[in-house]
Amino acid sequence: MSRGRTAVIVGAQWGDEGKGKVVDVLTRTFSIVARYAGGHNAGHTVIIDGKKFILQLVPGGILRPGCISVVGNGVVIDPLAFLKEVASLRAAGVKVDGNLFVSNRAQIILPYHRMMELGSENAPGRVKIGTTSRGIGPSYEDKMGRRGLRVADLLDTPLLRTHIENACREKNMIAHALFNSDPLDADQMFREYSAAAEQIASFVRDTALLLNRALADGKSIVFEGAQGTMLDIDHGTYPFVTSSSATSGGASTGTGVPPTSINTVIGITKAYCTRVGSGPFPTELTDAQGEELRKRGHEYGAVTGRPRRTGWLDLPLLRYAGMINGISWLVVTKLDVLDHLAEIPVCVRYKIDGKETEEVPAQACGYERIECVYRNMPGWASPTRNVRTVEALPKAAREYLAFIEQETGARVGIISTGPDREQTVLVPEFVSALGLN
Ligand code: GDP
Ligand code: IMO
Ligand code: MG
Repeated sequence: MSRGRTAVIVGAQWGDEGKGKVVDVLTRTFSIVARYAGGHNAGHTVIIDGKKFILQLVPGGILRPGCISVVGNGVVIDPLAFLKEVASLRAAGVKVDGNLFVSNRAQIILPYHRMMELGSENAPGRVKIGTTSRGIGPSYEDKMGRRGLRVADLLDTPLLRTHIENACREKNMIAHALFNSDPLDADQMFREYSAAAEQIASFVRDTALLLNRALADGKSIVFEGAQGTMLDIDHGTYPFVTSSSATSGGASTGTGVPPTSINTVIGITKAYCTRVGSGPFPTELTDAQGEELRKRGHEYGAVTGRPRRTGWLDLPLLRYAGMINGISWLVVTKLDVLDHLAEIPVCVRYKIDGKETEEVPAQACGYERIECVYRNMPGWASPTRNVRTVEALPKAAREYLAFIEQETGARVGIISTGPDREQTVLVPEFVSALGLN
């Protein structure tokens, strides 16, 4: 049997592009969804027949009966957050037993990770990133420092006890010295996390083996990205980024599926731009138009409830995301949010020191020198919400999408015209290219 199809879903902006919705649409025909990076800093919204789910650690496949969901080795897992999410899915009648698997090599987030992050974010003289306060960064620090605890170690009770005792002693000393934090109690932590380990054990697998075997059996896999290209630890607006490889390369290292087995990369972009937290945002609107986008798009963080910063579509960044990820198909979400506009400004080029450039600055301070060159696209000023076919979209909306294709060199495969699973336009060429029919 031939090896199965694979597609990476990657955020092409600063996260919250609508990845959760797109993964859900694709599970119509894909058999496995594998999350490859991040942790419960993510908030992926899926709306099915008006019923809303916000997934943080559990991949979107969980909402499609028959689909397998895998939390890959590249993810950092807070066991208590994972169990809470599983419990709320169960309470909503969602099956989570026998169809949800967690990598034995994924890293664990422990309470001292949150303690370190809190101290660091509030310490004078440190750059405030505006993180989600979930302990994500410190957990990845321990991973790279080769002193992390992995899922397999969480299940190894004597090792768990020793690890927590040693790590707590060390972290308490550091946090007290640097941030004057109150110490955490190792005994209590061990009791809580060994109890959590018992409940997690049945989900744990060697997921790299599971995924590669599934591919060999002809099964298809969606790799579910979290965050977005501009939040990637290497390629984003460093240091205002998250601590993982959010870009498509992370799909391979974060699951153990080799890059040669990855067929397609699908970049998700809003029809405009948003960002949560601090850091550069060249097309940001701080005026009434920005507020209007926030209101119409309900731009408040799915996890933290923080208002999202809003701005116009940034094509130089989208081209950059295309290059870094290898995006061949784009999904444009939230087209309906622009329905009220007679004209839509789009940033087509950057000028730095008066010269046009395709180079994205390596330093966050470099963005201050960017002058955005805008082009005003005609708006459609009519409703696109609920539209389900390309032909039914207003002419100006089709031209807006064609302009994005022309400027990025990628094809638009899906257009999202509302948050619900059904409020989706599937472009026929995309459906046949991805084998969605
Ligand atoms: P993710 O993190 O990339 O999965 O995105 P989020 O779920 O954090 O944020 C996207 C938000 O936009 C959610 O509230 C979705 O329900 C909503 N959404 C997704 N697609 C559309 C769309 O086409 N139109 C509108 N109006 N909302 C959408
Ligand atoms: P999804 O998957 C949007 C942002 C935070 C902060 C920075 C670092 O829903 O698109 P962290 O807690 O990761 O150390 O915070 O990254 N951030 C996100 N912004 N969507 C996300 O995930 C995000 N995950 C992290 O706001 O600026
Ligand atoms: Mg989100």
